[in-house]
Amino acid sequence: MTSRPPKEAYTDAVWFRNETNTLFANAWIFVGTVHDFQQTGDYRTATCGNALLSIVRDEDGNLNALHNVCRHRGAELLEGSTGNCGKTIVCPYHRWTYAHDGSLRGVPNKVECFPDLDRSGYGLHPASVGVFRDLVFVNPEADADFESWIAPLQGKHWPHDLTAADVKEAIPLAYDLKCDWKVFVENALDGYHLAYLHENTLGGPLPGLNEWEPVGDHMIWHATEEGVRHRLPMKVREEAGNSGTIESASKTGYGGVYFLFPTTIIVPTPYGISISALHPTAAGRCRMTVRHWVGPRQSKDERKHIPGFDKSTGIISSDNWKTHPLETGDFQTEDVWICEKIQRGLESPAYTHGPLSNGVGAEDAIRWFHGTLDKHVT
Ligand code: FES
Ligand SMILES: [Fe+2]
Repeated sequence: MTSRPPKEAYTDAVWFRNETNTLFANAWIFVGTVHDFQQTGDYRTATCGNALLSIVRDEDGNLNALHNVCRHRGAELLEGSTGNCGKTIVCPYHRWTYAHDGSLRGVPNKVECFPDLDRSGYGLHPASVGVFRDLVFVNPEADADFESWIAPLQGKHWPHDLTAADVKEAIPLAYDLKCDWKVFVENALDGYHLAYLHENTLGGPLPGLNEWEPVGDHMIWHATEEGVRHRLPMKVREEAGNSGTIESASKTGYGGVYFLFPTTIIVPTPYGISISALHPTAAGRCRMTVRHWVGPRQSKDERKHIPGFDKSTGIISSDNWKTHPLETGDFQTEDVWICEKIQRGLESPAYTHGPLSNGVGAEDAIRWFHGTLDKHVT
């Protein structure tokens, strides 16, 4: 069975470029939810590999996936992660103007400057969009196959309903991570560490009391019934009250964590749901955005309680930690801490891969992840 790629895969710029040009040239990445696109002109942007992408809602309610790059001299068009562009997409450089479907509508001083230009040849390059259970994904390829990617998840129990009356979206989080995106994925898939690194936060379950189920390129994590009882500290379980505890959730059969290959991690909890999206930025570095929906008793802005949050930039970073991660009571901080330690270890000259566990529910999902990665990085 496939094990991990060589350590250069986590540290080397050439490997990173190869991953960018193969896997991320045709990958489905999370860009938002259908509820982000209420009005004509609402947009969200994303990068996938080097591709600058946007999803724009047109007046018929269609979501158009476009490369967010002007066809004149290449200026990036829509700015920020979200906004409304109005009736058209206008390039700030020379004001070439595009409709919401990307077709080129206006070229200033066309008669003087571009008398022979055929506008129909200069629409924005199309990308692809796919929607699954209100979640919107984008892919840089014009004719990417969403159905094949998502089909294995059809019919699976699913944990969230973002439109439920008692669910509200909190302010998103942005993490600057000094680790390769694959290190963070491996940690998310690691069932071996839950009882040890997270002894004082999640507190388990032990390997063998949880399992990952491969579902196409994706994976769904389940705690066994016994594992569920051990998974969360009593305080958290009490706080969940009647709003759908993880115990009752597990009886309905849905999983605990959903990993959508390659960079989306969906985590339902007794008190809400979070959707994390990893964005590789360089070999050994990535960013993670986390959107989360919380119950009525939770605050919409938890950022000031998150270790490492910097008000002036809005970024969460280990550079700003004031307390040791193991003393924060925040399991995400524990994960960031260990991932950055792993990355430093990978970059150390003495490092060679040690063995992955053969135990069920321990590190088997890491092998499956790399088996899938092997198919996509060529
Ligand atoms: S680069 Fe966009 S109009 Fe010139
Ligand atoms: Fe963890």
